[in-house]
Parts: sequence; C-alpha cells; structure tokens
Amino acid sequence: MSELNKIVLKILSSGKGILAADESTGTMTKRLEAVKVKSNVENRLNFRNALFTSESMKTCIGGVILYDETIKQSSGSKTIPELIAESGAISGIKVDTGAKTLAGSPNEKITEGLDGLRERLKEYYKLGARFTKWRGVYSISDKYPSKLSIHSNGHALARYAALVQESGMVPIVEPEVLMDGNHSAKICYEKTSEVLKKCFEELIINKIDLTGIILKPNMILDGTKAIKKINSEQVAELTLKCLKESVPQEVPGIAFLSGGQSEVEATENLNLINKVNNTKFIMTYSYGRALQQSALKHWSKDIKDISGTQKVFNHRANLCSLAARGRWSKDLEIQS
Ligand code: 13P
Repeated sequence: MSELNKIVLKILSSGKGILAADESTGTMTKRLEAVKVKSNVENRLNFRNALFTSESMKTCIGGVILYDETIKQSSGSKTIPELIAESGAISGIKVDTGAKTLAGSPNEKITEGLDGLRERLKEYYKLGARFTKWRGVYSISDKYPSKLSIHSNGHALARYAALVQESGMVPIVEPEVLMDGNHSAKICYEKTSEVLKKCFEELIINKIDLTGIILKPNMILDGTKAIKKINSEQVAELTLKCLKESVPQEVPGIAFLSGGQSEVEATENLNLINKVNNTKFIMTYSYGRALQQSALKHWSKDIKDISGTQKVFNHRANLCSLAARGRWSKDLEIQS
C-alpha cells in the first residue's frame, strides 16, 4: 500500500468524512454577512476553531480542508494543523486560486492556480498539510458545459494532481457540475459522466497514481429550478450508476460535495447511496455548507456560545457519519 493510499484511507475509513472549511475570505464573508456577523480575521478563526475543537472531530472527521488564512493561524499555543492533528484528523489545503472567465467561452469558468503551485505545495507541506483540494466548475444549460470547458478543466485538474502527488500529498480532484438551472437529473447524469470521463482520461495521461486520490463529485440531481424532481432513491441509483461507469476501479474513495443541498437532503442522499452501494468505492462526505449551516446559524446568535455551537455541529457530523455507513434515519434528525 502506498503512503498516499494510506492517507486516503485514514481520512475516509470507518464512517469518517471531510469537513470542507476552505471558504475563501470572499465566500466566508458572504456566509457571515448572511447571518449578520462581521467578517474579520478573529470571527473567521473563532467560528472555525469552535468546529475544530468539537468532540465529533475525533469520530466523524478524518480530514479538514483549510484556506490559506486558516492554515497559518494559531489558537493559543498551537497552530491550527496541530490542533486538528490532536483530534486524529488530517489537515488539507485548498490550492486553486479560484474560477475565472474561460477565454474562448466567456460564460464558463476555468480554475486557475498552476503557476508557482510546486513552491506553494512545499510551504503547505511544511505547515502540516497532507492533502489538497482543487475545484473545477461546470454549469449546465443547452450549450454548456462546452467541450472547451470539459477539456480545459480536466487538464488543469490533472496537472494539479500530478504536482500534488509529486509533493507527497493526496489531491482531492473536484469536478463540480453545478445544480443551478432547470435541467433534468438525466441531463445532469449525462454531463457529469462526460466530465468525469474526461477528467480520468487526463489524470491517466498525467500518470496519476489513482490509488492516491480522492474524487469529490456532485451527486446526480435535478437543477434547482427544475419543476419535477426525482426522489432520493432515484438520486442514489443514478449517482451510483454514473460513478460506476465513469470512475476507474483503483480509486479508493469518493467524498461528495453538498453543492447547495440542505443538510438533511445531503445526508439522506448519502445514506441511500451507501445502502445500495455495490461498488468497492468508499462513499462519504466532503461537505461545506451541509456540515456547517446549522452550527453557523446557532453561533451567529451568540458568538460566545461555543459549547452550544459544538453541540449543533456534533449532531450534524454524527448524522453524516451514520449516512456514510447507510445507518441514518429521518427520526434521528430531531436534536434533543
Ligand atoms: P459544499 O459542500 O458547500 O458544496 O462545499 C464543498 C466544497 O468544498 C466546494 O468546493
């Protein structure tokens, strides 16, 4: 077993998943302002610190994705990666520099950040990171995603993954087909399949060790504005079918993004995926909003109430962990 594969399994095994706390300062500001909390360095750290020191970190969270600001911060005498390591979890770092207008198809995006990446990776490794994240983003409409977007983002993801593996870390490969739009789940399925197949074609050309990556895909869903919606059983069935057909067997684990689903929806869908999972892939979570939303809401009402915030976070993390083993049920959602 390679070192990279060991890291993957440590992050994803035994019902654990990933806490995506890597919102850029711009995104975090939006999240905080939405709950009427000022976005400053102190508040961003305090909320995240409350999550990182929660009890459920030990049992439900195998890895935490950090943003550049956070990985360089400390809490008391410990750096944030040291604090995360104390709970047994591994620190990861978002290394792309964001999605920019794609020249040649200005309504689409290309993710940037390859220039100087090798040097940045060395710095993040020294700070304690052992895995990384890069998100390619694809929107669906009658014309999109274009071949250009599918090709360019797949290529960038593969070049990123090659540099990350060279630096001794595990790349999370995140090709996110967005939920925005009125498209059907059938279209989402077709476009996601095309995107995933292109990504793996590029990963293979770039000689990536597929046993040392984590795939972070979207689930197969109807667009948010679609009038008719498929149910959770159908989401699970289509998601599994798509992944089985598009992801090579060597990939050890798949950690879904929540992508704008509610906390309960994201948990229920993951649970059903695991109930019918007849693949050898570990299927778990790498949720941002679907792990943090309720905790953030609670914290925003009284930013001094750390234990209350942690209680809400623990509840959500425990439910996600049950879903990662197919043991969640709706009646467990009610918090005592
Ligand atoms: P969401 O779960 O909120 O979609 O965030 C996951 C993530 O890391 C997006 O890049």
